Amino acid sequence: MKVLCFVLFVTAAVSVSAQTLAVKHVGPSHDKKVVCYVATWAVYRPDPGKFSLEDLEPGLCTHLVYSFAGLNETTNTIKSLDPWQDLETDYGRAGYKRIVALKDKYPHLKVTLAIGGWNEGSPRYSNMASKAESRDAFVKSVLLMLNNYKFDGLDLDWEYPTKRDGKPYDRENFVLLVKELSEAFQPYGYILTAALGAGKTTMETAYDLAKLSRYLDLIHMMCYDYHGTWDGVLGANAPLRGINDEDTLSVEWTVEYLLSHGVSPYKMVMGLPMYGRTFILRDPSTKVLEFGSTPVQSTGFKGPYTGEAGFMGYNEICVAASNGSQWEYHWHEQSETPYIRDGEKVIAYDNGRSLAIKVKFAIDKNLGGLMVWSIDTDDFKGLCNETDAYIDFVERHKRMVQDPLVQKAVKTLNIPDANLLGSRGPHYVVKDGLLSLRLPHLKYSNYALMQTINDAISLAVEEKRIMDEMDRLSRDNEVPTNEDSGVNRLGVSFVCLFVCLSSVLGIKV
Ligand SMILES: *[C@@H]1O[C@H](CO)[C@@H](O)[C@H](O)[C@H]1NC(C)=O
Ligand SMILES: *[C@@H]1O[C@H](CO)[C@@H](O)[C@H](O)[C@H]1NC(C)=O
Ligand SMILES: *[C@@H]1O[C@H](CO)[C@@H](O)[C@H](O)[C@H]1NC(C)=O
Repeated sequence: MKVLCFVLFVTAAVSVSAQTLAVKHVGPSHDKKVVCYVATWAVYRPDPGKFSLEDLEPGLCTHLVYSFAGLNETTNTIKSLDPWQDLETDYGRAGYKRIVALKDKYPHLKVTLAIGGWNEGSPRYSNMASKAESRDAFVKSVLLMLNNYKFDGLDLDWEYPTKRDGKPYDRENFVLLVKELSEAFQPYGYILTAALGAGKTTMETAYDLAKLSRYLDLIHMMCYDYHGTWDGVLGANAPLRGINDEDTLSVEWTVEYLLSHGVSPYKMVMGLPMYGRTFILRDPSTKVLEFGSTPVQSTGFKGPYTGEAGFMGYNEICVAASNGSQWEYHWHEQSETPYIRDGEKVIAYDNGRSLAIKVKFAIDKNLGGLMVWSIDTDDFKGLCNETDAYIDFVERHKRMVQDPLVQKAVKTLNIPDANLLGSRGPHYVVKDGLLSLRLPHLKYSNYALMQTINDAISLAVEEKRIMDEMDRLSRDNEVPTNEDSGVNRLGVSFVCLFVCLSSVLGIKV
C-alpha cells in the first residue's frame, strides 16, 4: 500500500512538473496577433541556414502558417506542392502532421495552411474562382484537407487577383471565393485569412477591401518588396515612409490606404520582413548612396544559404553586418531602415531597430498585430548580436519624462513599481518616483527578431497607454477654470456626445 501511494505520489509529482513545463508555453504576454509564416522549402538550404520544423520555436507566435500548398488545375482542388516533405505516404516527412502537433506543447497556437505564393502564379486561381462549380470543388477539397490534418484554417495567397495574367473580373470573384469559404468554415470554426499585396495598383485593382474585411478573420498585409533591383535604382525593401509626399511605396501609405478603404484595424496584421534586398552598384566608386536615385545592376547577389539573387535572409545579413569591417553600416533616416555596403555591394534590410519602429507604428494605429515573412530567416541559430534595437524607445522615453503630465499619468495608470515587479520582461515602471523604461536583457540568444518584435509590442502598448493618458489629462487641463467653465464644460460634453454618437452611427464629422 505504501509503495503504491509512493508510486502514485511520484507519478502525480511528475505529471504536475510536466504540466508546469507545459504551462510555460503560454505564448506572448500581450494580446496582439503575431503571425509567423514558415517557408517549408527552407529545409533544403545548406547549414547553418537549413531550417526544419525541429528548429521551429513557436513560443513567440500566436499563429503559424505552413507555406505553401498549391492548386490542382484539372480538379480545382488544393494539393501538396511537396508531398515528400508534407505528407506521410512513401516514408514522407509528414510536415503537415508535425506542424499541427506543435499545438500539444504550445496550446495557444493556431496553425493554418497557406495556398498560393509567388511561384503558383495567378491564372489557375483566376480560373477556379470564375465559376460556381469550380469554387465549390475547391471549398470542398479545402474542408477535407483541413479536417484530415487538423489544421485550424486556411490562408489565401493568390498573387494577385487581376494581376500577373489574371483577369479584371478576379476582383469580384475573389470576394465570392472568400465569402463561400467563410460560410463553409463557420460550422467548424476554421480561420480564414489572406495575404494581400501592399502596392498601390494591387490594392486598387485586385481587392474590394471593405468586403474582404467583412469575410476574412485576419488580413495579412505584405508590407515589403516595395523596392528591389527591378527599380534600376537603390531602394529600401520595406520603407516606413516614402522618399517624398507623392511616394506611395511605403508601409505608412499602405496602412493609411487600407484604413481609409474599409479595413477594420483590428483585423489588419502588418507584415514585417525578416530579409533584405541585395544590390550591385553600377558605379562602384559612388561615394554617397541615395535611395531612389543611385543606379544599380539588373540583378543582385545571392546569400550563402538562401541562394536567390537579390534576396538575403536576416540570418545571412546579420552575419555579414557583424563580421569585421568590410561591411559599413548605415541608417537611412527617411525610410527608417538600415543598409550595409561593401564596395559595389549593398544590402537594404530590416534589423531589430527598424522592426521595433514598425511595431510601434502598428500599435499606434491600433492594428490587430504583426506578421513575419518568414520565421526561418530570423537568426534562429543565434549567430549574431544586436545591440541598438530599442534606441528609439529610449529617446522617446527621455522626452516623455520631461513632460510635467507624466507624473500625473503614472499615478492614474498605476504604473507598477520597479521594486515590486520582479525581473520579468521589458516594462515601463516607476523607479524612485519617476517613469522609467526597463529594457529587455540584451543577451546572446536565438530568434533575436522574434524576441524584439514581441518586446517592442509590449513596450509600444504600454507607451500608447501612457501617451493617451497624458493627452487626456492635457485636454482636461485646457478646460478654463473661470466662471465660464460651466458653460464650456457643457459645450465640451456636447461636442463629445455628438462625436461619440456620430462615430457610433457612422456619420463622417
Ligand atoms: C490533379 O488531380 C487528378 C485527380 O486526382 C490527378 O490525376 C492529376 O495528376 C492531378 N494533377 C496534378 C498536376 O497534380
Ligand atoms: C567573416 O567572413 C569571412 C569571409 O566571408 C569568413 O571566412 C569568416 O569565417 C567570417 N567570420 C565570422 C566571425 O563570421
Ligand atoms: C556577442 O556579444 C558577446 C558579448 O559582448 C560576445 O561575447 C560574443 O562574442 C558576441 N558574438 C558575436 C557573434 O559577435
